[in-house]
Amino acid sequence: MQNKDHQRTTYHYQPPAYWMNDPNGLVQWKGNYHLFYQHNPDSPLHGNMHWGHAMSSDLIHWTDLPIALAPTRGGPDEEGCWSGCFVDNQGTPTLIYSGNAHGRQLPCIATSSDDDLRTWQKYAGNPVIAGWPPDLDIVEYRDHCVWREGDQWYQLIGSGIQGVGGTALLYRSPDLINWEYLHPLCIGNKDETGTMWECPDFFPLGDKHVLTISSIPHGLVYYFIGSYQNFTFTAEQQGVLDASMHFYAPQSFRDEQGRRILFGWLREGRDDAALQAAGWAGVMSLPRILSLRDGALSMEPAAELTSLRHRHHQIAPQLIECQQLISEQFSSNALEILLEIEYSGHCEVRIEDKSYPDERLQINLQETGVSIEQTAGNHQSTEQCALEPGRHTLHIFIDGSVLEIFIDNRQCITERFYHSAPQQLGMSIFSNEGTTRLHGLDVWELRA
Ligand code: FRU
Repeated sequence: MQNKDHQRTTYHYQPPAYWMNDPNGLVQWKGNYHLFYQHNPDSPLHGNMHWGHAMSSDLIHWTDLPIALAPTRGGPDEEGCWSGCFVDNQGTPTLIYSGNAHGRQLPCIATSSDDDLRTWQKYAGNPVIAGWPPDLDIVEYRDHCVWREGDQWYQLIGSGIQGVGGTALLYRSPDLINWEYLHPLCIGNKDETGTMWECPDFFPLGDKHVLTISSIPHGLVYYFIGSYQNFTFTAEQQGVLDASMHFYAPQSFRDEQGRRILFGWLREGRDDAALQAAGWAGVMSLPRILSLRDGALSMEPAAELTSLRHRHHQIAPQLIECQQLISEQFSSNALEILLEIEYSGHCEVRIEDKSYPDERLQINLQETGVSIEQTAGNHQSTEQCALEPGRHTLHIFIDGSVLEIFIDNRQCITERFYHSAPQQLGMSIFSNEGTTRLHGLDVWELRA
């Protein structure tokens, strides 16, 4: 079934079937990358959360492994093993996750012996924190980021303070079992970044620290860059990690080369009936490498992706004045497009199959910014982010129903589109207003 489904991806990770949401427990362990993820093994809808597991030696080719965590009947995770992270506790692989029971989530831990992180033993004393901090009026409480600092462990738990805004609560422990609540690491303004922060992730980057959170009710991921001292984080800059609500609940880790690698969940854009009919839901983003460049956040696709490049199309630099520039036909819907373009007014990049005139995917570059417009069947949407006219690099990845764009390696924007049939995509560029100069255009059809 799945192989013939042209909405599925060929180079973005997806489980063999059913539901996937957040990436969890990301780590490079003994050379291999491990991707755990929120998974419903019985249905293409959210529910009965397990941890799925896949392993890769290169971040690109993934091997599916058996389910890593399943709810225990009568246990503190009987209604689901929700999101969490991985730490190496002096050689013992350890997961900290949210056990869901009675409609509430509390931190649980599990450890593994040395079998490629396949099997996990839950700690008998779970949950390791028995309740919410008593002196705070919080709305919800879940998801974990844990790190070692000095001779202690520190943990952030996603939360929100009633009437105030989202927050990440800081805890300390000598042993991952006994936790002492310290204080909120950072508190947001509910009108700016939402009332509840899910999936906090906190890490050093360059000479700063970065906090990323997934916002309820905004459905967006915010990042804060700032200074971390004396267990206090002072945000100095903030932004949106991806301009689209199709990108959510990311988690990052540091690999053996010292890279900060981030994966996010690419949400679907279709209704439950369509998911039931498809039998699957959820895609993992490409691995995005984070760094600080001139003090600002930089995100680029992992270099390993170039190993998938196959058939190459190249268009010579040229000036485009009020005319259709190119109309190139590809024989695949798995594409990487590297476009270097300079515009002053409005130019359009269309990616479409001419025999399906109603199904359009269009990137508009104009004074108001970048927008992606798409129509496919009944599904229509527009995603948007700010960009000044001028010279820019758009690194575009198309894979089944996924579109991911890296703009100048500074901003990302993701879109989902559902073509009615497998299509022979082509690409055209129009200059509608002002001058458009093409500085470079490379397209690769990508191997599965
Ligand atoms: C984010 C989230 C997390 C939670 C998990 C449950 O998408 O809601 O807060 O742990 O998904 O699947």
